[in-house]
Amino acid sequence: MSILVAPSLLAADFTRLAEEVAAVEQAGADWLHLDVMDGHFVPNISFGPVVVKALRPLTKMPFDVHLMIAPADPYLAAFAEAGADHLLVHPEAGPHLHRTLQAIATLGCRAGVVLNPATPVEHVHTVLDMIDIVLVMSVNPGFGGQKFLYSQLGKIAALRALIDASGRDIRLEVDGGIDAATARRCITAGADTFVAGTSVFHAANYRDAIAGLRGGPE
Ligand code: DX5
Ligand code: ZN
Repeated sequence: MSILVAPSLLAADFTRLAEEVAAVEQAGADWLHLDVMDGHFVPNISFGPVVVKALRPLTKMPFDVHLMIAPADPYLAAFAEAGADHLLVHPEAGPHLHRTLQAIATLGCRAGVVLNPATPVEHVHTVLDMIDIVLVMSVNPGFGGQKFLYSQLGKIAALRALIDASGRDIRLEVDGGIDAATARRCITAGADTFVAGTSVFHAANYRDAIAGLRGGPE
């Protein structure tokens, strides 16, 4: 199984975003994870489509856009037009997850559903045929640098079984407190894709940090 790594820009040096994006791409990153926060769905505010659009010409990496905003529907088109490749939404962000996923498909983006630590696996059962990514939050969303919640390993294992039974090509991504050691635990549970902010952007060597998340030497 090939492990994909998506560094989270939230932990980058915001005075040098262009250099940081180039650096992680050079260091072997697969996707770039972009955390959009509205100060309403989560208790923090980050950035919007203007920043996504400014970064788009700088890299070929797919943009994995994590929408921590409610409602999300009115902004899907703006993020797609700004250059998002994946739009990841929380079921709690709106009353009609199915409609939101239809809208994402219509915009030509890959669709992802994000499960908060207290959100059960059941939320993806009935929409499995519409999604390309399930993102398990292993911290409460809103901030980088939090401790990995080991309670989420069981959910990852349950999702792995569900995805395998579906026969669909769905990435099982984990976000929050991911470093070489926690990534290894998640790989054992069945995850195949990692978001990592602090453990990549605060590392002395981005290439070593990214390689470490793929299950390589710790
Ligand atoms: C948290 C975000 C994460 C965050 C991860 O709300 O969804 O993507 O940037 O940061 P680390 O890797 O530092 O836990
Ligand atoms: Zn995220």
